[in-house]
Amino acid sequence: MSSQIIPVEPFDYVVFGGSGDLAERKLLPALYHRQIEGQFSEPTRIIGASRSALSNEEYRKFADAALKEHLKKGEYDEPEVKKFLARLFYVPVDARSDAGWDQLKKILDEGKDRVRAFYLAVAPGIFGDISQKIHDHKLITKQTRIVVEKPIGRDLASALQLNDTIGKVFKEEQIFRIDHYLGKETVQNLMALRFANALYEPLWNANHIDHVQITVAESVGLEGRAGYYDTAGALRDMVQNHILQLLCLTAMEIPSSMDSEAVRDEKLKVLRALKPINASNVEQATVRGQYRAGASSGGPVKGYLDELEGGVSNTETFVAIKAEIGNWRWAGVPFYIRTGKRLAGRMSEIVITFKPIPHNIFDQAAGRTVANQLIIRLQPDEGVKQSLMIKDPGPGGMRLRNVSLDMSFASAFNVRNPDAYERLLMDVIRSNQTLFMRRDEVEAAWEWVDPILKGWEEAGQQVQGYTAGTWGPSQAIALIERDGRTWHDDI
Ligand code: BG6
Repeated sequence: MSSQIIPVEPFDYVVFGGSGDLAERKLLPALYHRQIEGQFSEPTRIIGASRSALSNEEYRKFADAALKEHLKKGEYDEPEVKKFLARLFYVPVDARSDAGWDQLKKILDEGKDRVRAFYLAVAPGIFGDISQKIHDHKLITKQTRIVVEKPIGRDLASALQLNDTIGKVFKEEQIFRIDHYLGKETVQNLMALRFANALYEPLWNANHIDHVQITVAESVGLEGRAGYYDTAGALRDMVQNHILQLLCLTAMEIPSSMDSEAVRDEKLKVLRALKPINASNVEQATVRGQYRAGASSGGPVKGYLDELEGGVSNTETFVAIKAEIGNWRWAGVPFYIRTGKRLAGRMSEIVITFKPIPHNIFDQAAGRTVANQLIIRLQPDEGVKQSLMIKDPGPGGMRLRNVSLDMSFASAFNVRNPDAYERLLMDVIRSNQTLFMRRDEVEAAWEWVDPILKGWEEAGQQVQGYTAGTWGPSQAIALIERDGRTWHDDI
């Protein structure tokens, strides 16, 4: 089954940090896929920009190597790659001086009427400088957008500052704050599931739902990012953005339409309704962990401290939180969230556990009834599972069994699962902000996260060690088990 591809208008994508890691691993392969699927209109160009002194030819070689390395088997198609490389250009620019900017303007002026997108795949410390240079060199047209990657700040104050800096030059509707989790297929499916079916909505509240779990588990460690990660930690790196976005989509009211403002207004209300966690309750509501040496991804791995230069750190590589939303829909329904590096596997999912049946009519021989669960799996094996109690087949007596209606998207539809960036990069060109974070959302997320960070400091909450390759510290298991519930740990 193939979906219909609607081509976007011709565009120029300028990627600052064009020879960096994100461009290499994600952006160039994603754009290549959009070309293959016929989404580009001509003329369309991709312009790498960074401080490295590369020529167009050298940049094309870099992109070719990136495609060879990061495309899956069978996806590298010689004629398509040739066509793709021909649309690549490169301009060496310096964010902090005027070097290179006239050349960039000259190239961009060749396509004045095209959609123009500036992608800032660079450290947030130079977002301000780049925006200002874009403005000073008169590169902003009516059709211009800017895309910024996380981290957007490391607390509320720095996020406000960053948003102000970009906001001086660009209007809010031109600013695309990317959270790649929103581009994941299953995340969009969560909206389809909730809002295109009549089945769940009547049950989607505190009367019928016992609790929600959101897990984003990774088996990888620092992947060479110790410098950044040790100043961030799991709460800033994963919860403030990705996990809170998943929580919002799960908990929000039904927007009046898929219009970007309508959707983001509802997400914002959820963020604002999150009950505060601060010094007074942070120790009961959160667990911080840090991995020790162990085994992961099939081999022995070092502990976090052994991967750091100084070997001393209280940064969390794991966090678990019992969050609550103070509104009518969710009163008394805990949202248990957890994320960590070097866990037992790569697994991200949202699990909705419904309340148990109010009265059991079956006798003991039928066995225990298990509460229904809806499992929305982001990765691996994207899909949705609904568990139900059925009668064990056969002529014996009435025995009950818990089974899953399993819809794995890969096997249900014979299509390639696109990378999250593919959808989002094209939404920028289409100027569709629905899957991007609005300024007030980012700030509201920090408003909830800041008191947790301060609470940890005030309470002197230390990280708890966990062995690499496990599900995190035992305290995280206790966090949910003291409420009589358990983590859903099926990989
Ligand atoms: C990034 C984090 O935003 O998301 C990384 O900075 C993390 O630390 C990554 O590994 C996870 O993304 P995905 O798509 O692999 O789940």
